[in-house]
Amino acid sequence: MKRNILITGGAGFIGSHVVRLFTTKYPDYTIVNLDKLTYAGNLENLKDIENLPNYHFEKCDICDYEAVTAVFKKYDIDGVIHLAAESHVDRSIKDPFTFARTNVMGTLTLLQAARNHWNGNWDGKRFYHISTDEVYGALQFDGTLFTESTKYDPHSPYSASKASSDHFVRAYHDTYGMPTIVTNCSNNYGPYQFPEKLIPLFINNIRHRKPLPVYGRGENVRDWLYVVDHARAIDVIFHNGRINETYNIGGFNEWRNIDLIKVIIRTVDRLTGKPEGYSDELITYVTDRAGHDLRYAIDSSKLKDELGWEPSLQFEEGIEKTVRWYLDNQQWLDNITSGEYERYYEEMYSKR
Ligand code: NAD
Ligand code: TYD
Repeated sequence: MKRNILITGGAGFIGSHVVRLFTTKYPDYTIVNLDKLTYAGNLENLKDIENLPNYHFEKCDICDYEAVTAVFKKYDIDGVIHLAAESHVDRSIKDPFTFARTNVMGTLTLLQAARNHWNGNWDGKRFYHISTDEVYGALQFDGTLFTESTKYDPHSPYSASKASSDHFVRAYHDTYGMPTIVTNCSNNYGPYQFPEKLIPLFINNIRHRKPLPVYGRGENVRDWLYVVDHARAIDVIFHNGRINETYNIGGFNEWRNIDLIKVIIRTVDRLTGKPEGYSDELITYVTDRAGHDLRYAIDSSKLKDELGWEPSLQFEEGIEKTVRWYLDNQQWLDNITSGEYERYYEEMYSKR
């Protein structure tokens, strides 16, 4: 079946992997990447696929109803995979308004544009919203896991804004009958992640011999999933997931921050020919993040049982691949820190 799919936030970290998977796996689909290109949007992430005939880019703010509506019309969109968001907890603590605007109002704008475009004809339509496990709040060190029925209990402005957007998506199903799906995923890692998040930040800092700021005592726990496995899950769920369902996506791969940080340090040192322990001195304990959630851990057995998805990569392999990628693509990191990537758009698209 031919489809016209709108992927929002496709120039970001996870979105770029989803765009790559869909454009290469489904040559008959029209894939439209709608992205505002905030500080986190980087078209260099898509250099390898940007000339594929089924790939289209639209620079657009999801909060701009007229512009979003025009994109729905131009491509006659029948499926949405919505990833565009402000995504960094620390930024949300400093600037919660931007998070409410993009994550809440932006999602609502997109829902309303889809609803009007589809005009009650839901046949073959799908609005798939990508969310986070952080909406469930924090777990203790007691072995419990977030399931799809865990009560929402967000703590940070980021997770509060994502929780709100999840509710709006479900409300569009319940009120108007829109075919929606929501997935809540754990922490992703892998190539093309903006170097403000733990793993790429630390790899970059080790490269520059800068301190590695460990929040609090480094005892918080996160469940890590390789980003390509998340993209694979999105593919499976978009095509085969049941309407109005929630699926949790996770790696069954919990790490205490400090233990993960030591793995990163060991891997970077080994791959750059340094003796073991060489970069340990960079570890610097700093004031804890406000409202820092203690532990996230996902039970993704519903997704495995219903749709047969499970992570394909062991963590050891994933982290090795990831560190190698950042070391092999140091220019990508340098372009971000120098702001060069913002000029890439001008060069690529102003001529067209
Ligand atoms: P990211 O910050 O790397 O990318 C976000 C993208 O959205 C960027 O390309 C940015 O330009 C775009 N964007 C932001 N505001 C926009 C707006 N107003 N209009 C149009 N585009 C806009 O984020 P990510 O880490 O790739 O996360 C993608 C999605 O997955 C988010 O919805 C996030 O909440 C969710 N998620 C992320 C993780 C994770 O570990 N990174 C885990 C679970 C869920
Ligand atoms: P992060 O990558 O920001 O993801 P999230 O907050 O969405 O889980 O952070 C992962 C964990 O690492 C989190 O517990 C906070 C911690 N952290 C640090 O200790 N130092 C840092 O510089 C950063 C960015 C995060």
